Amino acid sequence: MPKEKILEVLDIARYAASGGNGQPVQWLVIYDPEEVKKIAGLTIEWMRTLINTDHPMSGYVPILISAWEQEYDIICRDAPHLLFAHIPEDNQIASVDAIIALTHFDLSAPAFGIGTCWAGFVAAAAMFYEPLQKELGLPAGRKSAYAMMFGNPEYKVYGIPRRKPLEVMWK
Ligand SMILES: Cc1cc2nc3c(=O)[nH]c(=O)nc-3n(C[C@H](O)[C@H](O)[C@H](O)COP(=O)(O)O)c2cc1C
Repeated sequence: MPKEKILEVLDIARYAASGGNGQPVQWLVIYDPEEVKKIAGLTIEWMRTLINTDHPMSGYVPILISAWEQEYDIICRDAPHLLFAHIPEDNQIASVDAIIALTHFDLSAPAFGIGTCWAGFVAAAAMFYEPLQKELGLPAGRKSAYAMMFGNPEYKVYGIPRRKPLEVMWK
């Protein structure tokens, strides 16, 4: 995917609202597919550390690890690129700004022919696993808030995804 196209979508995300207009969100684009694979591998490595612990994911990770070992990329879905929204370590509310900005990216990307998927496993590993944090090499004082994989979509979606019925309370 051309870098210019990615920059166009990120430029839209630049207009996302942020608390107090603090604009704390910056980006790390993992452009090299080999590096995306490496990050997926480190995410699996982090998952191995959760086995037999009281971590809420501990019962679930063996399935993911086993899929990875069978060369099925359950972590980054063979996406060529990975996007990290990063924020100041000491800012308590910036994670909300990061999610808003990433949502702008998510919603704008299809108009540019880009397919996206929230990368929750990678995001969790980036929060807690030091070797992955080192690999990302974010500037000092900044931490990953969340991640999103993206690339040329393999499938075209025609339908509207099914959802639970709307639940609203009025007072
Ligand atoms: C916060 C968040 C984290 C997610 N993490 C992952 C992930 O790590 N891997 C993945 O394949 N999908 C991930 N997803 C995608 C969801 O599984 C998907 O959005 C959901 O099943 C609904 O499908 P839809 O987006 O096609 O409507 C994530 C979605 C969200 C919102």
